[in-house]
Amino acid sequence: MAERNNKGSLLVLVALAVVVLLAAQVKPAVAGDYTTYMQNKVRDIVKANRAVAPGFIRLVFHDCWVKGCDGSVLLERADKQAEMDAPQNGGIRGLDVIQTIKDALAAFDKNVTCADAVVYAAREACYVLSDKKIEYAVDGPGSHKDALTSSMADAGALPPPFANFTDLVANFNAKGFTARDVVVLSGAHAVGQAHRPTFESRLDKSVSGRGEINGWYQGEVDRVSNASPTKAVHNNVRDLYKAEAEPGVLDNGYYKANLQNTVLFNSDWTLRTDTAAASEMQQYKDSAATWYALFGEAMARLSRLPAEGATLAVPRTKCSTAN
Ligand code: HEM
Ligand SMILES: *[C@@H]1O[C@H](CO)[C@@H](O)[C@H](O)[C@H]1NC(C)=O
Ligand SMILES: *[C@@H]1O[C@H](CO)[C@@H](O)[C@H](O)[C@H]1NC(C)=O
Repeated sequence: MAERNNKGSLLVLVALAVVVLLAAQVKPAVAGDYTTYMQNKVRDIVKANRAVAPGFIRLVFHDCWVKGCDGSVLLERADKQAEMDAPQNGGIRGLDVIQTIKDALAAFDKNVTCADAVVYAAREACYVLSDKKIEYAVDGPGSHKDALTSSMADAGALPPPFANFTDLVANFNAKGFTARDVVVLSGAHAVGQAHRPTFESRLDKSVSGRGEINGWYQGEVDRVSNASPTKAVHNNVRDLYKAEAEPGVLDNGYYKANLQNTVLFNSDWTLRTDTAAASEMQQYKDSAATWYALFGEAMARLSRLPAEGATLAVPRTKCSTAN
C-alpha cells in the first residue's frame, strides 16, 4: 500500500515536471532574449534548408557590413537600385527562408525583426554546418532594427573578390575589424558556392604561371563551373565533385586549401602574401579548436554591428518591403 502511494506521488511529480518544462518552453521570451526555444525553432528551419545554409552565413556579413545589421539587404526596389541588386550581392540566396524564420519567431514575439532573423539564421547555420562546434551569443529580438531604405551604392562597403590584402585590411579596419579578423572570417569559405564571374579572372594561365593558383585546380574549376547550369562551383576544393546542393562542412578546411593554393578568389589567395596572415593560417590549419573559437567570437561581433541609417519603430511585416 505504502509502495503504491510512493509510486503515485512519483507519477504526480513526473507529471508536474513535464508541465513545468512545457510551460518553460511555450513561455513568451523575456524581453530582449534570444531564448533556447527560439534557437531550436530557427535551428530546425535551417536544418530543413541545409542546402542554402551557407547562404545565411554570407548574408549576415553582407547585411551587417552595409550600414549595420538592419535587414537592408532583404529590401527590394522597383527600380532595381537596392543593395541586393549590386554585383557584390550576386548569388545571395535563402531570402525566402529568412521570411519563414521571421514569421515563425514573430508568432511568439512580435518584436522579432527581419534583421534579427538574418542574425539568427547565420548563427544556426554555423552551428549546424560545423556539427555543433561553432556557437556564439547574439542579441535578442528587437536588438537589430529593420532599415527603412536600401541603396545599391551602399553595397560598395563590401570587399570585391579581386581585392588584395591591403584592400581587405583597410576594408575591415573601417568596420572596427582587424587583419586577423580577415583571416579568421575568410574561413567561412570552407562552405558554400561561388559563380564564375567571381573567380573567372583567376582561370587565366598567367595566374597559375605566377604560382597564385594550383594548375590542376585551375583546370578543374574551369571545367566544372563551365559544365554547371548555374556556372557555380563549391568554394571548398574537397567538395569540387559533389552535388551542387551539398553545403559542405564548416571546419578549418579552408586553411589547408589555401596553403595548398586551391582556393577560388584572389581575396583568399592574397592572405598568403602577408607573413602574419600566413602564419595564422598555419595555426588554424593545425588547430581546428583555435579557429572555431576565434570564428565564433568574430561572428558575434559582426552580428552586433548597429544600424547606421533610418530604422522602423516596428519590425517589417514582409522582409522585402519597408511596411
Ligand atoms: C574577405 C572578403 C570576402 C570576399 C571578397 C568574399 C567574396 C565572396 C564571393 C565572391 C562569394 C561567391 C558568391 C557567389 O558567387 O554566389 C562568396 C561566397 C561566400 N562567402 Fe565570402 N567573401 C568575403 C568574406 C566573407 C565573410 C567574412 C563571410 C562570412 C563570415 C563569407 C561567407 C561566404 C559564404 C558562406 C559563401 C558561400 C555562399 C553561398 O553558398 O551562397 N565571406 N564570398
Ligand atoms: C517588445 O518590446 C517592447 C518594447 O521594447 C517590450 O516592452 C516588450 O516586453 C517586448 N515584448 C516581448 C515579448 O519581448
Ligand atoms: C592593391 O590594390 C589596389 C587597388 O585595389 C592598388 O591600388 C594597390 O596598389 C594594391 N596593393 C598592393 C600591395 O598590391
